[in-house]
Amino acid sequence: MEQNVLKDKITIITGAGRGLGEALCHGFADEGAIICPWDIDEQNLNNVAESLKKRNSLGRKAKLDITDEKQVENEVNEIEQEFGRIDILIANAGILHSYEITDFPEQLWRKVIEVNLVGYFICAKYVAKVMKKHKKGVILQINSKSGKKGSYWNSAYAASKFGGIGLTQSIALDLAPFGIRVNAICPGNILESPLWQTSLFQQYAKKWGISVDEVRRKYIEQVPLGRPCTYRDVINVAVFLASDYASYMTGQAINVTGGQEMR
Ligand SMILES: NC(=O)c1ccc[n+]([C@@H]2O[C@H](COP(=O)([O-])OP(=O)(O)OC[C@H]3O[C@@H](n4cnc5c(N)ncnc54)[C@H](O)[C@@H]3O)[C@@H](O)[C@H]2O)c1
Repeated sequence: MEQNVLKDKITIITGAGRGLGEALCHGFADEGAIICPWDIDEQNLNNVAESLKKRNSLGRKAKLDITDEKQVENEVNEIEQEFGRIDILIANAGILHSYEITDFPEQLWRKVIEVNLVGYFICAKYVAKVMKKHKKGVILQINSKSGKKGSYWNSAYAASKFGGIGLTQSIALDLAPFGIRVNAICPGNILESPLWQTSLFQQYAKKWGISVDEVRRKYIEQVPLGRPCTYRDVINVAVFLASDYASYMTGQAINVTGGQEMR
């Protein structure tokens, strides 16, 4: 791929404050994109925006909740006014609550669907209105391997991610006549992420009565390529899908799992 393949592309990234979203901000900035980072967490958002500003890659930052339709609509309008267009949306923001089905609090189950599925719908809806005017654009959803295979204690997360693939395919059909491509990426376990480091390792170690190191080994053993998924693995595929190199691809959900789904 040529360098600066996303030069000056106005790119909204949701859930940009930490983890994969933060890494995507820098990965896309490396390719010349102008980043509009969104997050509900103001402190993390400000830190990311500051580092993007230092490298001249900051568009507009926004502290918002992607499940609040009015906030998303207003911010999309502000970006359109300032830059005249939106080239790329990466719907990355997502949450996970893990319970066995009979213990799952209903409100938490609904919350996961609300952020991971309804939030994606709301962002895509308003960004697509702008992209349609220009007959061009790319929408990428960060999905998960749990979007294709049910996962233990994860009924809400898997349901939200399966739904995300249905949403991706359906809006890819709606938007194809307008030159807008919509695809999803399904990463494996990103063990370097805060989600794993601050929460899942400890939760699973407790649940199974094993050490954190054993949990790590257990997850890596499931991967034919013998290592966890990294931010870089996801960024590489996201940059490709966002670029014109993928101009004949829409409605796809691409596994980035080291072959894990074959096991
Ligand atoms: N970490 C993994 O192993 C992994 C694997 C596969 C897929 N994913 C997916 O990647 C995406 C990012 O995951 P992560 O591990 O970086 O998570 P994370 O928890 O580190 O980051 C998620 C970010 O989204 C923000 N956010 C949450 N709710 C929001 C809302 N309502 N409005 C705006 N922002 C909100 C959070 O503040 C946070 O900054 C998620 O969609 C997740 O499902 C992660």
